Amino acid sequence: MSSLKGKRVVVLGGTSGIGLAAAKAFLDESAQVIIASRSASKLSDAKVKIGGNAEGYEIDFRSEEKVADFFKKVGKFDHLVVTAGEGAMGHFSELPVATVREAFDSKFWGQYISVRAALPYLNNESSITLTSGVYGVRPPQGATTLASINSAIDGLVRGLSVDLAPIRVNVVSPGIVDTPLYGGMSEDQRQVMYHGIAKQLPVGRVAQPKDIAETYVYLAKNGFTTGTSVLIDGGAHLI
Ligand SMILES: NC(=O)c1ccc[n+]([C@@H]2O[C@H](COP(=O)([O-])OP(=O)(O)OC[C@H]3O[C@@H](n4cnc5c(N)ncnc54)[C@H](OP(=O)(O)O)[C@@H]3O)[C@@H](O)[C@H]2O)c1
Repeated sequence: MSSLKGKRVVVLGGTSGIGLAAAKAFLDESAQVIIASRSASKLSDAKVKIGGNAEGYEIDFRSEEKVADFFKKVGKFDHLVVTAGEGAMGHFSELPVATVREAFDSKFWGQYISVRAALPYLNNESSITLTSGVYGVRPPQGATTLASINSAIDGLVRGLSVDLAPIRVNVVSPGIVDTPLYGGMSEDQRQVMYHGIAKQLPVGRVAQPKDIAETYVYLAKNGFTTGTSVLIDGGAHLI
């Protein structure tokens, strides 16, 4: 496993949930971390929470132009992690096509655009790690959109690992993680949901962001991993 000490790591989506925990995990490995997302307030809160000397940039990763400007400002770096993205839940026959397109624009196209724009700044030792989700392999009812997006990302990564070699390209596929993604629910609703899911999972709990974060670090460090999807879901694909 190669050391991350002094390596420059960009975490797109590093201001919340899984990305924030990943940024912290990379800082703990003595990497230089650059975080980015749309909200200025999330950026400043995140910098306080993770400590260290993380740089922060405001960008919307759905915009090719803004993402290109961002990487130009960042310059050469070593590892790219993308956790940014917004999906959509709803039954296939009820979810408007426009909502599904918006979700693809964010979670699929945002990651695609980010990889394209990052390429000139990476090197032969670099890695790229994207984010999909267990609904790509085991969708519950109402998850057709996320099943499609996550499967598309898993496929994108297999293709990229061949096209971009020797740069390594992998994807982390989480199960349910306790993050601000569910911030639209009341605390009570959220706890009921987590409890219900935890009871079904072989591991008996939902994930905390740090459970997932260490997978991004592993994939950046392990020089023999490419084209792989790491399912880290507490056994959700089995239930
Ligand atoms: N939590 C789960 O249970 C779970 C399960 C499976 C998969 N996942 C996937 O894991 C990833 C991270 O989820 P999370 O739970 O950590 O969510 P989160 O806490 O809501 O964090 C999402 C991050 O992405 C950023 N972001 C969203 N849209 C963006 C855009 N257009 N441009 C730039 N940044 C953007 C957000 O910041 P701004 O709002 O400031 O832009 C935030 O930093 C997502 O792809 C999600 O689908 C999550």
